[in-house]
Amino acid sequence: MTMRLKRVFKITALLSSTTILLFLYFQNAAVVLINNSYSFVFERAQRTSHICLEDSGNSSWFNERYKPTVPLLLNSTNSVLQRNIFSWWKELQDVRSASNYTKVVDQLFSLFPNEDHYSDAGPDRCRTCAVVGNSGNILGSNYGQLIDSHDLVIRINKGPTEDYEKDVGNKTTHRIMYPESAVDLDDNTYLVLLPVKVLDMQWLISAFTTRHIRHTYTNVPSSIKANKDKVMILHPEFIKYVHDNWAEGHGRYPSTGFLTLIFALHICDKVDVFGFGANSDRKWHHYFDKTMTSFENDSHGGDFENKTINQLHQENKILMYKGLK
Ligand code: C5P
Repeated sequence: MTMRLKRVFKITALLSSTTILLFLYFQNAAVVLINNSYSFVFERAQRTSHICLEDSGNSSWFNERYKPTVPLLLNSTNSVLQRNIFSWWKELQDVRSASNYTKVVDQLFSLFPNEDHYSDAGPDRCRTCAVVGNSGNILGSNYGQLIDSHDLVIRINKGPTEDYEKDVGNKTTHRIMYPESAVDLDDNTYLVLLPVKVLDMQWLISAFTTRHIRHTYTNVPSSIKANKDKVMILHPEFIKYVHDNWAEGHGRYPSTGFLTLIFALHICDKVDVFGFGANSDRKWHHYFDKTMTSFENDSHGGDFENKTINQLHQENKILMYKGLK
């Protein structure tokens, strides 16, 4: 009888410990068996701090604005624009030259990669991105190394790295620009064109071929040092989407920085933002020159953009590094 009771006890103990083990296994816990005895030490497994798995929470504010299906970059298969998008975009152009859009797009994709970029989103992807704006608040921040530790480092317009490495880093995987803000790039950097007009697309073609366009509304570089196989063009529908959904119609069209930040939200799984923010006079100052752009007479809704950027930070969708005031 006692023997039978002992056996029942042993089986129950074995079953219970197996159940506990299975439970802990599925709980991501580590079990350490010490000295072959039945005393267990349970240690919560150090969850690999998989940065993209951090729960950013559910935000209805974000979900109302974020449209995962919007085309981000232009290619020959998505280049036909809906009528309302085309007429909005056409209105941005100083020179009413949008009539040759189709011809120009054909030329674009006979020269530059005609690909469907960044359609790789999914639970397994963890792409970290640093968006680096040109605000003077980044000076003295020592963010350089942190910025360079991201998979993608996206810079904007003329923002240089040389002589500012300590604060802004020196890695540039993408630079978003338009003809009037163009700078030379190294071979590994993607040139992402922000086309505000068809002439911007024509300039891009010309800069890599005939070099005949030297002037838009101001002088522009007639050629550019950049890798022809690393050229991308923001989709006009994306520009209107950012204007409508994120800038809520403020300004004539979004600033390059704001577009870049929303672009990053779409192609990255973790977005850290540096070098954004006006000075105390509500002016956009640069870390590399003395330019001061006031919000008031600008074509961008700077105040509203800032409000939206702060809200994105509050909602845990981006992390703002505010630098030094
Ligand atoms: O002046 P620029 O347009 O080249 O700067 C790039 C972007 O950085 C701006 O479009 C803006 O979104 C951001 N910026 C900012 N605060 C500043 C300067 C620039 O937020 N003081």
